[in-house]
Formats: sequence, structure tokens, C-alpha cells
Amino acid sequence: MQIEEVMGTDIGVTVDGFDYASAGTEDIDAIKAAVYTKKIVVLKNQHLAPRQFLELGRRFGRPETYYEPMYKHPEVEEIFVSSNVPEDGKQIGVPKTGKFWHADYQFMPDPFGLTFIYPQVVPEKNRGTYFIDMGKAYGRLPEDLKKEVADTFSRHSVRKYFKIRPSDVYRPISEIIEEVDTKTPPVVKPSTFIHPMTGETVLYISEGFTVGMEDGDGEPLEGDLLQRLFEATGQLDDTFEHPNIHLQTFEKGDLLVWDNRSLIHRARHTTTPEPTVSFRVTVHDTHKLYDRAV
Ligand SMILES: [Fe+2]
Repeated sequence: MQIEEVMGTDIGVTVDGFDYASAGTEDIDAIKAAVYTKKIVVLKNQHLAPRQFLELGRRFGRPETYYEPMYKHPEVEEIFVSSNVPEDGKQIGVPKTGKFWHADYQFMPDPFGLTFIYPQVVPEKNRGTYFIDMGKAYGRLPEDLKKEVADTFSRHSVRKYFKIRPSDVYRPISEIIEEVDTKTPPVVKPSTFIHPMTGETVLYISEGFTVGMEDGDGEPLEGDLLQRLFEATGQLDDTFEHPNIHLQTFEKGDLLVWDNRSLIHRARHTTTPEPTVSFRVTVHDTHKLYDRAV
């Protein structure tokens, strides 16, 4: 197994010759260390059946099964399927997922540390996913913004981007929103925390899931701090040219592992729909999202 830095970028490494079944714990630890420090690891030349993909994920931690059943792989429920390609005329998984800035499971009480994406059908033209490293983005904030965000809390909810399910057709929208808020009530987390693996400060907000900010007493903050943070970190840039934004491309056989504590990501916008299918496994590593706030 060989870990190689990607030239010309401070994010990402590639790994050649990784075999999840024969890898030693020192290999797994080396990959994990690379994920935490370089944020994205691309495992090259992976040829895995769905169940093997899950087993690969298990080498890194405890898999989390997505809470909404319509995303589940028909045979391996721990696999989340994003697909716009019907199988035998049947929709498998959900199309057009994640076209907004987010960290996976940010709206849940206990988000996992690692996301694994294994593209199955790779689009010809618009391949790739956008990323922002929110540790680096925090480091680049002006000092006055850092001061403003200190000791605040952020509220996260799935309600803005919750996907209507086939079974929701003809249901009143108010009833669906009520159900979303009951099933996945908004969660409040420190706006910044110390990354338990690297010690860096992470600004844990995203345009897709963060719906408000509050002080230590739970009082909503006045003003537009959240919007200014979205702006400053590059999340409102529709051209995707902001220096914080990294476009990660991939090819067939690549399996991406990333640091779900530091990175927010967004599916690349496609003007012409192309067949795209990817499988996702998510795992909890040895720590919670954070040990302490800042
Ligand atoms: Fe995602």
C-alpha cells in the first residue's frame, strides 16, 4: 500500500494497492491519519460488491444506517444510494442528493466522523464534488468574525432540504413539516469545536442544514452573523471560484474517504442530467463529533 500526496493541492491524498480484507491495522491507522490531516483520501482501483464495500467501512469504525428507508440499498441497508438510474424500471435510492452545502448527519444528535463514497456510475462531464475545509475556512476568518462566533451555538435542521418521499404525495405540506420536526428535531451544537483528532478549530455550520444561531442561554442572536459566515467561508459563491472551494474529481474504481467533521460538501451542479450512481457508507470512529467546544 502506498500513500501519495496530490500535487498542486493542500487537500487530498491517493492510496494505491489498498485491499480492505488483507490490510493490517497499521494500514488502516495510516489511512485514518491521512484522512484527518489531508481531509480526503482516494482509494484507487477498488472493485467491490456492495457487501464488501460495507466490510471495508467496518475496518474503520461502526457503520451508521441512514434513518430514511428510501435511501437504502435493497440488499445492504447500511449503504445509502444516490441514483438517477432506474434498475429494471424501478427507482433505487434517491436522485439528486446533496446539491447544497452540508456535512453529513449535521442535523442529527450524533454525526459520524467518516464518510465513504464509492461512485458506481460516473458522469462523463460534470464529475466531482465540491468541498470546503471548515477548519481552514475558520482559520482564514477576520479576527472580528472569530470573536463574534466564539461561545455561540448553531441550530441545525433537515427541514430546508428534506426530500419528499413517494408516499408523501397528496399529503398536506404542513403535516410533512410537522413530521420532520418530530422525527428529526433541530439540534443545537457549538458553532466552533476542537477537532478531536487534529486539535484544529472547526466552524461547524452549513448553508444547507444550519438554520440559526443562539447564545449560551438559547436566545437567538440578532443580526446576520450566520449569513456573513456563509459568505466569508465561500458557501454563497455560485461560481465555485472562492479560494476555499476545492473540486474533487474521481474516476471509476475510486473510493473516496473524507473527514466529515472538517469538510462540508456539495454535489456538483449539472445543467444536463447525466446518469450518476454512487454508494455511501458512513462510520463512527473512536471519538464523538467533538470533545469540547471553543
Ligand atoms: Fe453528503
